[in-house]
Order: sequence, then C-alpha cells, then structure tokens
Amino acid sequence: MRKAYIAGNWKMNMTPSAGAAYAAELAKAAAEAGADVKIMVAPPFVTIPAVVEALRGSSIIVAAQNMNDHKSGAYTGEVAPEMLKDLGVTTVILGHSERRSYYKEDDAFINRKLLLALEEGMDVVLCVGETLEERESGKLEEVLSTQLVGGLKDVKAEDMEHITIAYEPVWAIGTGRTATPEDADSAHAFIRGQIAKMYSDDIAQKLIIQYGGSVNASNVKALMAKENIDGALVGGASLSVEKFLPIITYDK
Ligand code: 13P
Repeated sequence: MRKAYIAGNWKMNMTPSAGAAYAAELAKAAAEAGADVKIMVAPPFVTIPAVVEALRGSSIIVAAQNMNDHKSGAYTGEVAPEMLKDLGVTTVILGHSERRSYYKEDDAFINRKLLLALEEGMDVVLCVGETLEERESGKLEEVLSTQLVGGLKDVKAEDMEHITIAYEPVWAIGTGRTATPEDADSAHAFIRGQIAKMYSDDIAQKLIIQYGGSVNASNVKALMAKENIDGALVGGASLSVEKFLPIITYDK
C-alpha cells in the first residue's frame, strides 16, 4: 500500500514572513482536520529557515526547489545540499519543467544533482513530463523514458526508496488545463512499467508517483482515485491554506 504524498511547490512566491505565517496556519489546520497523508512544502531558498522554524513539531516536510550539483566551491549564486540539510531540509525537487525550459537543465545535469542529493542522504522528487507538442506528435512515452533513464542513471536499487517521481505534463502546469485522470493514470502506469524494467516489479510497486499540473480541490479526488496516482505536486493551489487544505484532506 503506497501512502499518499501531497506536496506544495511554492515556486517564486512567499517572502520569509508570509511563508512562516502560512506554515503555522497550515500545520494547525492539517492537525485539526486530521490529515493523514504525507505533506511537503517547497518554499524558495530564503524562505526555508522561517518555514522550518514555523513547522517545528509538525510532520510536514520542508523541501528545496533546486540545489547545485557540487558540494561547495566557486559557484556564485548557488546553494549546496549541505547548506539545505543544515537548515533541516530533507528533500529536494529536481528536474522541474520550469528549470528544464527556462534554465536549460538537461537530464545529465539533473542526474548529477540527483546522485549528489542521494550521497548527502536526501530524498528527491524527480519531475518528468512532456510538452504539448511532444504529446501531440506521439512522443509521450519516448520523452518519459528518456527523462527517467537519464535522470536516474547510476541510481542503485537500494536508493530508489528515496526517490519519488512527479509526472507533470508541461501543458497542464499553471494553465488550468488538467490531464484527465485517465490520461494521467496511463502516463503513471507507463512510468511504473519503466521503473519495473529498470529495477524490479517490487521497486516499481513501491514507487510513489505524484501528478502535477493544475491540481485543485475540485479535481484532486478523481485523480487520487486512480490506481497509479499516489500523490500530487501542487503549484498555484498550494499558495493559500484555504486552497491547499481541501487537497491534503481530499479523502475526508
Ligand atoms: P500548477 O499547480 O500551478 O499547475 O503547478 C504545477 C507545478 O508545476 C507543481 O510543481
């Protein structure tokens, strides 16, 4: 049985003071509502310390949205995994489509970061997903397979328990256009099948696969009802407790 894992990717939103207020409100509301899913929030780097402080004593996980592929050194403007761990960050999102498209991150670069995160004892949410053009030209499976093989290169079977995959079709992100639960489930089934081929059926069955792309309170239940959808990576609707609470309590 895979435990539902719902995450809020704040992207470039929320100052430290706004993040702290939000986090305190979320922790209280989640506890009062009896939310029993695994919950994660990923604030911008500078907002992380305030959020970690506000979530002390709560089981909500704090993640980073990115990190550098080196341990330390002359990389101006970058953040190393050790710095994140020192703040209490356990998890990092890697390969988000916004980083792939705006900052030209490729699978090899994402893979270097992923291997370093594992070496540093962190958990990773690896994002994969196709553009509309790729989907319409019948390349969905090819794109997903390339991103999985490239992103997970040299990852050992025993490390797969630290990996979550987020399927985020690029055309559904921030557009209000969600993949249908059936489309999402079939992409998730393909991803699980690829992981079974790369590793084993057992690892594939245990793998948590989140769906991301315009998830909200109205569509979360239908998505989560699908066999292969184990969680959600939520952008816009994670930015207020009012919108995020019904998502993390979709099963209540
Ligand atoms: P939206 O929920 O705003 O579509 O964003 C999805 C996303 O990119 C989460 O990482």
